[in-house]
Amino acid sequence: MDIKQRISELRVQALDELTAADETSGLEPWRVRWLGKKSRLTEILRGLASLPIEERKEAGAVSNELKLELEAALKAREDILRDCEIASSAVRDAIDISMPGRPFPRGRLHPVSQAMNEIAAIFSGMGFQVLEGPAVEWDYYNFDMLNMPKEHPARAATDTFWLDAPPNEKGWQMLLRTHTSPMQIRAMEKTQPPIRLVVPGIVHRYEATDATHLSMFHQLEGLAVDEGIGLADLKGTLTEFARRFFGPDRRVRFRCDFFPYVEPGAEMAVECAVCRGEGCRLCGGSGWIEVLGSGMVHPSVLEGVGIDPKKYSGFAFGMGIERIPLLKYGVEDIRLFYSSDLRFLRQF
Ligand code: PHE
Repeated sequence: MDIKQRISELRVQALDELTAADETSGLEPWRVRWLGKKSRLTEILRGLASLPIEERKEAGAVSNELKLELEAALKAREDILRDCEIASSAVRDAIDISMPGRPFPRGRLHPVSQAMNEIAAIFSGMGFQVLEGPAVEWDYYNFDMLNMPKEHPARAATDTFWLDAPPNEKGWQMLLRTHTSPMQIRAMEKTQPPIRLVVPGIVHRYEATDATHLSMFHQLEGLAVDEGIGLADLKGTLTEFARRFFGPDRRVRFRCDFFPYVEPGAEMAVECAVCRGEGCRLCGGSGWIEVLGSGMVHPSVLEGVGIDPKKYSGFAFGMGIERIPLLKYGVEDIRLFYSSDLRFLRQF
């Protein structure tokens, strides 16, 4: 066979094999076979010496050309394969599709917020509007308008955080509200009856913290003012709330209590969840747990906001929120709610 023809056959075969190599690791064996010392091309080049001079010249040129072509093809193939390999290993490292998914920690509302929302939703379902008010208040709303003028002893009964700010032009002093009751006044100043509202919110009292007391806690205030509202409406509404929140089989108890802004005043207690009235550690042996203060809005409070007490009457109540999950779950120390201990908070 003519040497040029042999070379062109070698060329086709070599290039076919090169394209078939799909990994860089396959290139070295190819190089050894086609360009190495024992390759057929080298054999041909070596055999040129025995050829007549004319033939030798031509065959030498063709085979050298092929040698250069194959070397260039090898280099090009190597570049392509290496790029592919780098790209695919980068993809492999970036996205490991066999890796298990990362758990996504889901947050939830604080148990106190949960209780507050649940209670507000119950009253909302009974036709009460849900409002919020300022936690930084004037003594005028927190005390004066609630039948506790400057010299009134009840003002001293709750220890108040006073703000270190000068009084306003009316002589009002700023404080951290000690209860949510000032919102009764703010609401009645703005609206004539009928009024039905509840006010969840934060309150502060300057008190030492212990297992059952916090200097910062939450209350939910309630107010209903209309023609012909009586004590039976107060009892009925609050009993219905207790049935819906604590369950229909929990008994409630009303007893007389005193608050300067109501007449008469009453506290409501719920049968202890743990002992059902027998008396245990949670209820301090009494069988009952107090959940709120309440009463019929005092006529002079209505007068103060320009509502005629001869025409209208109303009831009001205020409950401590932190106590509610405390009762529901039997938590022993109220401070746990604000300890930021996730092991505790995640239980709710
Ligand atoms: N403000 C009272 C308290 O903080 C609760 C209360 C509200 C009592 C409304 C009567 C009427 O304890």
